[in-house]
Amino acid sequence: MSVEENTPAQAVVVVVGSLNMDLIVRAADLPRPGQTISGSSFATAAGGKGANQAVAAARLGAQVSMIGCVGDDPNGRALRQALLDDGVDCDGLRVIPDAPTGVALITVDAAGQNTIVIVPGANAALAPGQVDALESALQAAKVVVCQLEVPEHVVGHTLARAKALGKTVILNPAPATGPLPAQWLPWIDYLVPNESEAQLLSGVAVAGREGAEAAAQVLLERGAGKVLLTLGEAGAALAGPEGVQHFPAFQVSAVDATAAGDTFIGAFAAALAQGCAEVEAIRFAQQAAALSVTREGAQPSIPNRQQVLAWPW
Ligand code: RIB
Repeated sequence: MSVEENTPAQAVVVVVGSLNMDLIVRAADLPRPGQTISGSSFATAAGGKGANQAVAAARLGAQVSMIGCVGDDPNGRALRQALLDDGVDCDGLRVIPDAPTGVALITVDAAGQNTIVIVPGANAALAPGQVDALESALQAAKVVVCQLEVPEHVVGHTLARAKALGKTVILNPAPATGPLPAQWLPWIDYLVPNESEAQLLSGVAVAGREGAEAAAQVLLERGAGKVLLTLGEAGAALAGPEGVQHFPAFQVSAVDATAAGDTFIGAFAAALAQGCAEVEAIRFAQQAAALSVTREGAQPSIPNRQQVLAWPW
């Protein structure tokens, strides 16, 4: 089935992950340690890798449920409303009374590159019971998506449960700090790291495409089903038991790379849930991510399905 022929009502995606309010400054360059610089603008926008991936999947054709935590504060209410505005089911969102909603401090330079510091706040309170409470959504899901901005034991719990239910399981190992727990790898159908994450996960020095593919090989040997590498301007590569397939990048003029990876993951999940073939899902995800870097912010930058399909690629 192609992306154009999808059946959205059956394309259920569950995202377990973080919600952050992004505090974004733009400056000509990213500051060096100890340096004070002047920025050119400040904005706030809905973000968090989990919420961004949920919004991307929803805008790109899936029926999405989000499991996560926010604080009992204006940021939390705004993030919930942002998800609802995109049609994301929020029954799995829990309000934590004594923790602030997560925030991310983001600096974007003139080339669209960023640095991000997150303060997890309520995201740290996500508990396995929240995942279990949404068992009916998990049962209905075709694809389950996790990242690493929420407690590790909840990610492990979700991966195990989703695998036991026979779902397609995607882990975006971001932010990565080191190797994943060994028992996780067989639960993951698609491990989707960028270059630096692939290096941290595998211990293989990654400089360029060949290094990334060597790192992917290590992760396959540890038990991951497939490794889908996002390589920025070098495109993407899918490594699996049959070998490595490379996907060149779509060229766009970059404004802000924030949430490009999240858009890729959400689009890939939505396309798989719609029954698309892997190769087509990857190209669709690349196109959606490419469009996202032409716009500022995390969730504000994520295109919808019509915009991706109408773009003259
Ligand atoms: O991937 C981009 C996201 O990372 C931002 O929205 C920020 O909240 C951090 O989670």
